[in-house]
Amino acid sequence: MSTTANARLHQRTFHVAPMRDYTNAHFRTICRIMSKHAVLWGEMEKTGAILEADPLKQRRLLQRGSTEGQEVLQLGGNDPKEMFRAARICLPYGYDELNLNCGCPTTKTGGADYGASLMRDAELTSNLIESIAGGVRGSVAISVKCRIGIQETYTPDSEDYAVLHDYVSTLTRTGVLSHVVVHARQAVLGGLSPKQNREVPPLRHDFVHALAADFPDLNVTLNGGICRMQDANMHCAESIKGIMAGRWFLRSPLDLMRVDEEFYGEASTTSLESVCDAYVDYSLASLERDNGTLAELVMPLALICYELEEKAKVAVEEGNVEVEARAIRDAELMLETCTPLLMRHHGLKLSLVSPGQGCFRIWRKALQKLIVEVAKVTFDIGPDHQATIVLMISTCKLVCDE
Ligand SMILES: Cc1cc2nc3c(=O)[nH]c(=O)nc-3n(C[C@H](O)[C@H](O)[C@H](O)COP(=O)(O)O)c2cc1C
Repeated sequence: MSTTANARLHQRTFHVAPMRDYTNAHFRTICRIMSKHAVLWGEMEKTGAILEADPLKQRRLLQRGSTEGQEVLQLGGNDPKEMFRAARICLPYGYDELNLNCGCPTTKTGGADYGASLMRDAELTSNLIESIAGGVRGSVAISVKCRIGIQETYTPDSEDYAVLHDYVSTLTRTGVLSHVVVHARQAVLGGLSPKQNREVPPLRHDFVHALAADFPDLNVTLNGGICRMQDANMHCAESIKGIMAGRWFLRSPLDLMRVDEEFYGEASTTSLESVCDAYVDYSLASLERDNGTLAELVMPLALICYELEEKAKVAVEEGNVEVEARAIRDAELMLETCTPLLMRHHGLKLSLVSPGQGCFRIWRKALQKLIVEVAKVTFDIGPDHQATIVLMISTCKLVCDE
């Protein structure tokens, strides 16, 4: 077992889940500024994409967010030879753990050939984790992220703990697995969208607790539906060593500032202002080094802005003037701190004189302009289509797969 894995057995850990299109290196950088201790996961990278990428693209796919703290890279694939080669390429990037995705569902009947469908075949999964271990020569912790089981089409009340137990039991026989993250729902391989697969099958946290009790030498992390600090602490009070949360931090990224103090018990002096300052410095430096586009770099700030806007909206509904005023103050402060970054977009004019509630509109305008810019470059479109794009953005936000 690697040093990281050994150390973890005695520690409680708080994980920010892998989320495709969100948890890229920039997102992880701002997360690290907010929490020294949270374990940060990158998006799943498919082995084919890693092996086919040129060195520059490989660096973009595989770079860590920060050199500090623990980060995990998740791999997706089903070919042991490719997995071995991909893991070897990942080694110099300095991740603390490599994870095999065994939980990603698909909308195709019969399932895709990686992710949750690997739960059909514990032997193949074992070969894959042995290949990862071989690729990194035992120097990095190896984990899987799986569901409690799989179904071809959705049938209610069909959960069976024995399926999870037997799957994990086979994987532990490899001797290289140190950590299992369980998204406490079944994956439905046909008939449900990925979003429905995160909502429709019921959560069975009790299965994950049973697994942790049955495998005391394994780190077991519980995932699915956690969005309050007291729930995170409550689950970790038993045999569970870690909890993982995903959508909580898309909706409320600023809650990450509470993790060091309220989960790890370490006093923290982080403030919204210090977070924005540090992240804007990082973003400006990244733009200089051609490490990411302005739109990519601004995305985590957009999530924070949505969080504050939502807070203000709820406060208005509840007639809570104090909370509303605080959310607006925070958004104004963010706007002011982030102006040097937003102004990198040519043609963007910000009027910053006491915007009050208006600062949310200014943020939205700035973000729309950035997205239009990305679309113009990506699809080579002219000004005629810009209004359509703005409409698409608003629609996307409404149906956004969170
Ligand atoms: C937008 C989005 C993208 C996701 N991408 C991945 C992924 O790349 N790999 C993975 O294992 N899980 C992925 N997930 C699932 C999450 O890691 C997590 O298991 C799931 O959201 C349940 O946790 P939560 O209830 O705390 O959000 C994704 C979830 C979301 C919302």
